Amino acid sequence: MVVWTDAERAAITGIFSKLDYDFVGLNALARCLIVYPWTQRYFAKFGNLYNAAAIMGNPMVAAHGKVVLRGLDKALKNMDDIKNAYAQLSELHSEKLHVDPDNFKLLADCITIVVAGQMGSAFTADVQAAWQKFLAVVVSALCRQYY
Ligand code: HEM
Repeated sequence: MVVWTDAERAAITGIFSKLDYDFVGLNALARCLIVYPWTQRYFAKFGNLYNAAAIMGNPMVAAHGKVVLRGLDKALKNMDDIKNAYAQLSELHSEKLHVDPDNFKLLADCITIVVAGQMGSAFTADVQAAWQKFLAVVVSALCRQYY
């Protein structure tokens, strides 16, 4: 079981309380699609992902970025049992979407970069450590149904 200190809980809750779901959702998913272009293959139905400008302007990327962040809400609300809270989502990505699980960490890193950019100096090393621990638990929970 994952153990969270009060400081970690406070840091993670603090990030969510200020989170701009539209901005972070779009920018994080767009970065993932641009920096790791092989991830585009899972989003064929999104249409034009031809270059960075097309990706940033694609309304389906914006909408799905927000869906991903709303998915993180579920982890926040179930911090003491993320693995079970994510069981269905893991099964979906594994058995239906066939997403290579290596990609979860890549998207998580893009989310961290965009959150850091928004928070500026408030994204201290301690806050980063708590946030990356949170995302690592999410990634591990997403990977769970693969094994
Ligand atoms: C769908 C969360 C990573 C590909 C979803 C959904 C959520 C979600 C909440 C909607 C599920 C539903 O409709 O019931 C996450 C989280 C991730 C993550 C929290 C990691 C931080 C990824 C990655 C890829 C991916 C890395 C591919 C590279 C997809 C696809 C869909 C989906 C293709 C279905 C989209 C659609 O049909 O509209 N994801 N996801 N996901 N995800 Fe993920």
